[in-house]
Amino acid sequence: MHVSRPLVAVASSLALFGALWIPNAQIMRPKDPAPFKPVVKVSSLMTGLGGAAGKIQEAYRSEEEHRLKSLAAWSDVIAELSNVHMQHRRKPDYLEMADSTRTIALELASAARADVVDEMQLATLMANLDTSCGTCHDADK
Ligand code: HEC
Repeated sequence: MHVSRPLVAVASSLALFGALWIPNAQIMRPKDPAPFKPVVKVSSLMTGLGGAAGKIQEAYRSEEEHRLKSLAAWSDVIAELSNVHMQHRRKPDYLEMADSTRTIALELASAARADVVDEMQLATLMANLDTSCGTCHDADK
């Protein structure tokens, strides 16, 4: 059988292309994720924040062994929900208030995770957290 030179050239470059392309395809990463967009309304975030606020109070008052772990975990939840909340209304003061809740929740989480826990600091941050929720609710009326 006669195989023309150009045909051999095409076949070998296809083989080379395939050899290079297949391993590359295997290590190809998914595209960067799309910019973050919330998928639920503020009222649903508030259902989450309300639940987490109940849980954090419960943890704070409890005397069980995992009290601080639980306090830190629910503070994290409040911080992240507030972080998502900041993707909602665009009014600057609204964002600042959501940010303030987020900041206090993060402080509370690290205070609960400190090597030496300062109960006075926990009490202050718990009160500040509560105030930060109320400040925005009062402003929304
Ligand atoms: C930056 C503003 C803002 C902050 C901060 C904020 N909220 Fe809200 N919250 C709202 C708004 C706005 C509504 C009314 C939502 C609606 O009905 O659309 C609301 C409503 C609620 C509700 C009623 C939910 C419902 O049934 O609609 C609860 C519970 C709640 N918030 C809990 C909290 C807690 C707990 C915190 C603090 C950890 C908090 N919120 C912080 C803005 C805020």
